[in-house]
Amino acid sequence: MSTKQQDYQEAITEITGVVSGEPDLIANLSNITAIIKQKFNFWWVGFYLVKENELVLGPFQGPVACTRIKKGKGVCGTSWQKKETIIVPDVHEFPGHIACSAASNSEIVVPVIHDNEVSMVLDIDSVDYNTFDETDKKYLEEIAVITAGLF
Ligand code: SME
Repeated sequence: MSTKQQDYQEAITEITGVVSGEPDLIANLSNITAIIKQKFNFWWVGFYLVKENELVLGPFQGPVACTRIKKGKGVCGTSWQKKETIIVPDVHEFPGHIACSAASNSEIVVPVIHDNEVSMVLDIDSVDYNTFDETDKKYLEEIAVITAGLF
């Protein structure tokens, strides 16, 4: 049986392969969300891009989501403001959590940092509680570094 670590290592190999030689950002972000969604079957996987001082929905896999999030709002806006990964074991306990889907119960948001500025965040939602831990953080931050290199 494969471990979460092995699954992330495979996902990173797939991501590195698929973005290699492809200059289009939207195409690459789309494939990154598809690879993560397919590997782990999370409820929602997507990017929010910083545009004119707001987060705007980018490529994602999963149900319809909120389009815009302000700095400091929700888990995504907080990750952007703090420039750090946020693990939320129970979204109902996170003050100001933005519920795009009632099915989501835990969440992780990882900032993509480019030239010391957050250019987007990678947001993943799970229907289960306590889905994300330090292993997810470690590998998703590696994916964020790859993503930051796509500009
Ligand atoms: N829950 C997020 C909003 C985005 S959706 O989960 C796709 C938040 O609180 O920022």
